[in-house]
Amino acid sequence: MKQNQEKENAALAALDYIQHECILGVGSGSTVTILIQNLNKVKHKIKASVSSSEDTTNKLKQAGFEVDELSNVGSPDLYIDGADEVTRNFYMTKGGGGALTREKILAAASKKIICIVDSSKIVDVLGKYPLPIEVIPMAKSYISREMIRLGGQPELRQNFVTENGNLILDIHNLTIIDPPQLEKQINNIAGVVTNGIFAIKPADVILIGQSNGVNTLENQ
Ligand code: 5RP
Repeated sequence: MKQNQEKENAALAALDYIQHECILGVGSGSTVTILIQNLNKVKHKIKASVSSSEDTTNKLKQAGFEVDELSNVGSPDLYIDGADEVTRNFYMTKGGGGALTREKILAAASKKIICIVDSSKIVDVLGKYPLPIEVIPMAKSYISREMIRLGGQPELRQNFVTENGNLILDIHNLTIIDPPQLEKQINNIAGVVTNGIFAIKPADVILIGQSNGVNTLENQ
């Protein structure tokens, strides 16, 4: 299938960015799973790995990697992750899998962020894919009302508790004109743990898988 081939090409291209003694942050999702399946090709270069979710931790361990605590390794040299949507000016939305808070912590702590996506993820304006917000349970109704005020339609993700013990509101119908501003505004609502806009600290490199290679965008 075309999309899987594109994901694979993006994931394989990311291997070239892993340099000797790399402390590697690893995101979550199906594109990252392909990355992990191929990570043994550069195993000798990886000094330590840190993970954004239990699923990724399990996959890394199955692939023969030890997984460290972020607090023990300092600042990862590289953070590689997928995205739900990404613009050509390096803004992303993430959290389709619900791991957005740990993903954002790793992205914030890392020296360089590489986003690996298939071509369907490239958009002009973020917001068509519902924007996830991790919320403290007692604040879910309050935050829902605040998001309606901001023009969105919140929907509680059913039968889902995050690895931090919180809930996810998926916000439909947002048109995210100014991603850094909205990221900050949503994070300022009491009870929000974090939201899935990654714009205050955007990607440094976007690797867009094509059927026969990869299109690389580098943030100068
Ligand atoms: C998980 C994420 C993923 O990176 C995002 O959902 C993309 O996943 P996939 O590579 O499966 O399309 O943010 O929380």
